Order: sequence, then structure tokens, then C-alpha cells
Amino acid sequence: MIDFKNVSISFKNQPILQNINLHINQGEFVSLVGESGIGKTTLLRLIYMDLFPDSGIVSVGKFNSLTIQKKEIPLLRRTLGIVFQDFKLLEDRNIFENVAFALQVTNVKRKDIQKRVLRVLADVGLSHKRSNMPDELSGGEQQRVVIARALVNEPLALLADEPTGNLDPNTSFEILDLLKDINRKGTAIVLATHNYELVRRSESRILQIKDANITELESI
Ligand SMILES: Nc1ncnc2c1ncn2[C@@H]1O[C@H](COP(=O)(O)OP(=O)(O)OP(=O)(O)O)[C@@H](O)[C@H]1O
Ligand SMILES: [Mg+2]
Repeated sequence: MIDFKNVSISFKNQPILQNINLHINQGEFVSLVGESGIGKTTLLRLIYMDLFPDSGIVSVGKFNSLTIQKKEIPLLRRTLGIVFQDFKLLEDRNIFENVAFALQVTNVKRKDIQKRVLRVLADVGLSHKRSNMPDELSGGEQQRVVIARALVNEPLALLADEPTGNLDPNTSFEILDLLKDINRKGTAIVLATHNYELVRRSESRILQIKDANITELESI
């Protein structure tokens, strides 16, 4: 589903990823680990084609980085749920509206929007908070809303960039459990984190970025 062929990218002559070959299958749970500044976010940005490789090809479903047209990029992104590293909810909209927002730009019918939003809010355990405003939720709850928002388009894969960055250990493990649940229901997960303890508990396939290369680890 996601495929990297000899992918290299540098910033200002500094190689970040060099000759990466990588395949992520449908329904897989992959953890991408590595120190801060090593290239985790860069790799995710290559997947959702916010960046393009200097050489090599990134393919996601039927799209690839060599032939994709600018107008197709929103279509590609609709097949991916993206949880950004610096997650933000719209402060002037309630939880329901925050999640529905991602659907309103598509041509999904009002009634179906309602159904889908309520379903994903139930999936993340926050149905009862649907009328609250973001600042009335804890950090962990807000992160669940961000995950619900990423799921509402029913993506093939969820890209989660440091989704527990600002959370305490217990809340982080609860978010991890939520990601595992989502994965069990069939959505592939790519979790980027420098939290090795989280990865240890994830029971996922582990890819480590180091010195611009990726290695698969048996354990961590
Ligand atoms: N647009 C850019 N221009 C120049 N350098 C960049 C750019 N984006 C990223 N970098 C550099 O590329 C390297 C990798 O950045 P990246 O954000 O992928 O790291 P990361 O592994 O996600 O780090 P963190 O764990 O801190 O989020 C860093 O050294 C960063 O400074
Ligand atoms: Mg990052």
C-alpha cells in the first residue's frame, strides 16, 4: 500500500534519508522510531506528499510521487488520516464540529456526516463530550478528538506523528491502546515517536531511522 523505492531526501545538503526502501502493507501497525531531528516527520511528509524525494519514488495506493498531479493530492490525503505532531483543534468549535469539519469539505451528506462523526467519537470513547469546547477537555481527550478527526474519512492508513508528545505516561499508553484498537479494525497505523517505551508496548513492526537509513528491529 505504501512503498518507498530508493528514496533520498536532503535539506541544505544534509542527507536526511538515503536510499530508503520500505513497504507497508494494508492493515499493518508500524512504529517509526529515532532520535529527535532524525527524519521521522520528514518520512511521514513524504507519504502524504507534502514533500517529494530528491530521488526515488514514493507510492501510496494508486498514486506515486513521480506522476501525481497537484489536484490529486487532496484525493491522496483523503485515503490517509493524519495526526500532526503539533495537534490543534479549532478552539471556537465544539468537539462534534471539530470532527465534522474534515467531512464538510467533501460532498458527504449531512445525515451521513452526523452518523460518521458520532461513530468515530464513540470509537475514541468521547461521545459524551461531543458538545463540549476543546478547552474543556484534558490533553489526552483532545488527542482522542484529533484521532477521531483523522479517522472520520475512513482512511486506509493513519499516520500519527508523536501523538503522545505532550501526555503523561499513563495517558500515552491509553492513546496507544486506542491506536491498537483502530488497527484491529483494519486501519494501518504508522506511528512516529521517540518514545521507546511506547514502541515496546505497541507490539508493532519496528523501523528505526538512524544515520539517514532505516533498519527493522526485532525488539527494542
Ligand atoms: N524544511 C526544512 N528545511 C531545512 N531543514 C529541515 C526542514 N525540515 C526538516 N529539516 C531538518 O531535517 C531533520 C529531520 O527533521 P524531522 O522533522 O523529520 O525530524 P524528527 O525525527 O521528526 O524530529 P522530532 O522527533 O524532533 O520531531 C532535522 O535536522 C530538521 O532540522
Ligand atoms: Mg517530528
